[in-house]
Amino acid sequence: MTQLPAAQNRPSDGSKALYGGKGTRRITVRDIALAKERGEKWPMLTAYDAMTASVFDEAGIPVLLVGDSAGNCHLGYDTTVPVTLDQMALLSAAVVRGTRRALIVADLPFGSYQEGPAQALRSATRLVKEAGVGAVKLEGGERSHEQIRLLVESGIPVMAHIGLTPQSVHAMGYRVQGRGEEAAQQLLRDAKSVQDAGAFAVVLELVPAELAAEVTRVLHIPTVGIGAGPRTDAQVLVWTDMLGLTAGRVPKFVKKYADLRQVMGDAARAYAEDVVGGTFPLEEHSVH
Ligand code: KIV
Repeated sequence: MTQLPAAQNRPSDGSKALYGGKGTRRITVRDIALAKERGEKWPMLTAYDAMTASVFDEAGIPVLLVGDSAGNCHLGYDTTVPVTLDQMALLSAAVVRGTRRALIVADLPFGSYQEGPAQALRSATRLVKEAGVGAVKLEGGERSHEQIRLLVESGIPVMAHIGLTPQSVHAMGYRVQGRGEEAAQQLLRDAKSVQDAGAFAVVLELVPAELAAEVTRVLHIPTVGIGAGPRTDAQVLVWTDMLGLTAGRVPKFVKKYADLRQVMGDAARAYAEDVVGGTFPLEEHSVH
């Protein structure tokens, strides 16, 4: 059975906790809202395939994001910009199939919602109907207000994403957002705008920790931080970064919990040595 780690603000017997709780049904956005009410922190990870998603689901991660970071981490692109809605539908369906309990949130990729609310609804509807996800995520604060409002009115839960928004890399680069009074005020306006539009949570990416804490204090929906310090309601990391599979440098805000690149490389080399040296397969691996 999952051991409850020492954590603050869990329900008294821990049974309804998002992480470490006893529930086996799918997590819903209502469960997420209740966690904010009781001040429970929760973890989110990305996932792009059924097998990896099943590992995280069995580990009790309550929310999995089929991020368009799949572009960099799974599909071999340099940015998230080329990722298509067809690709997101395929990956999201696999993640849904690999899981039982986690709420699955899928990114609307670049170009699938910027035209306006009607386009956003068409795209999100595909991810909900074809892939079976429980919510979608899209980037932008005030500029995405109307898209969020129509999706929520149509019954599709939306996670918003403000601060650094990687789909706008060509316009904003990969820089800390919300530094300075004017930029901080804009971030606060963006946060309130997505909450007013009906988003059930908001990702804050690469913003100063003090500002993320302030946003978390003023919003009644949960904030999900990535590079936003320790005082958000939840945290998210890209799984290939936190498990050490990503090649080269990872952002400073990532904590590496394993070195899968080393483990997998060592295993591949050991296998190759066995094949070349004739020590695999042996009699025990043979059929007669
Ligand atoms: O695509 C993604 O993985 C994301 C996270 C970084 C929040 O948007």
